[in-house]
Amino acid sequence: MGVEVRVEGLTKAFGKQTIWRDVSLTLPAGQISVMLGPSGTGKSVFLKTLIGLIKPDEGHIFIEGVDIATCSEKDLYEIRKLFGVLFQDGAMFGSMTLFDNVAFPLREHTRKTESEISDIVMEKMTMVGLVGAEDKLPGEISGGMRKRAGLARALVLEPEIILFDEPDSGLDPVRTAFINQLMVDLNQQTEATFLIVTHDINTARTVPDNIGLLYHRHLSMFGPREMLLSSEEPAVRQFLNAQTVGPIGMSEEKDADELAAEDHSTLPPLPPIPLQLFPSDGRPRATQPEPGAWCAANGVVPPPGSFLDDGSSFTVPPQTSVAGGAR
Ligand SMILES: Nc1ncnc2c1ncn2[C@@H]1O[C@H](COP(=O)(O)OP(=O)(O)OP(=O)(O)O)[C@@H](O)[C@H]1O
Ligand SMILES: [Mg+2]
Repeated sequence: MGVEVRVEGLTKAFGKQTIWRDVSLTLPAGQISVMLGPSGTGKSVFLKTLIGLIKPDEGHIFIEGVDIATCSEKDLYEIRKLFGVLFQDGAMFGSMTLFDNVAFPLREHTRKTESEISDIVMEKMTMVGLVGAEDKLPGEISGGMRKRAGLARALVLEPEIILFDEPDSGLDPVRTAFINQLMVDLNQQTEATFLIVTHDINTARTVPDNIGLLYHRHLSMFGPREMLLSSEEPAVRQFLNAQTVGPIGMSEEKDADELAAEDHSTLPPLPPIPLQLFPSDGRPRATQPEPGAWCAANGVVPPPGSFLDDGSSFTVPPQTSVAGGAR
């Protein structure tokens, strides 16, 4: 049953460039969280900081009582075994077959026999729909297949925390729907703590329990999905509803003149809050909230038409299995 990740006052700069400052949030154990943000706002840097690949300048990251921002290399090595990571670029070894890439963490971190390793690798390859492609090199397969191979590799150590850096970038809408369903199903089966970085609004609106937005060198907001989807905060509202009116421009921030010139009196109403994506067997995940629970508990009236399965909101088409989605 997943592990909580508690981030307090995290700040990171590269030279004079502050990436983000004073980021605090808790990824609740076993829940799915999504991190959004315009390109270049430091989402990948945030993920790399969570696993100790990048050291923050200030702040703490507590996982099972260890502060991985300040702990020894030895403690970090142990804590890293809790993580599975799907990097943005797949990060496959180009000269190794998919089988060897997926087997790599098992050979590195465990004393399992080759026959045990083979069983685990094939189980994960089946899960992501890549059976038959074990002997291919990463350069011989499509980008979507590389993503799924990266996912299989992220799963082999049965991680308690899984970080996904843009699992859906470069995928067509059907494959994106498959990968979203796969993540929801995996969360149901593993009950691990998930953090997904994505630019896909549909994914952000329907998959997670919690949503965060990195913008303007800080964490604008982090909280339950329904809180952000009903929020009137300008950057959150603009990003989650893919609107052009608001503080975010093509070069991340608009200047004061541009903002003043916008007519905020005619903002479109908030769209309905869609139902959250369910596991494909129809049973809710262990941490899945009831639709509308956050709104009801907080006296928030959701936009009209929310939580209806009538196709009026941005819903992801139901999928049954990712297998067969390859090639
Ligand atoms: N190792 C590094 N050294 C110096 N600067 C870095 C390093 N890694 C990232 N940066 C800078 O940090 C900023 C944030 O990068 P990051 O890759 O985290 O953005 P992102 O939010 O993931 O963007 P995208 O959505 O395009 O993937 C960028 O300006 C980048 O150039
Ligand atoms: Mg990135």
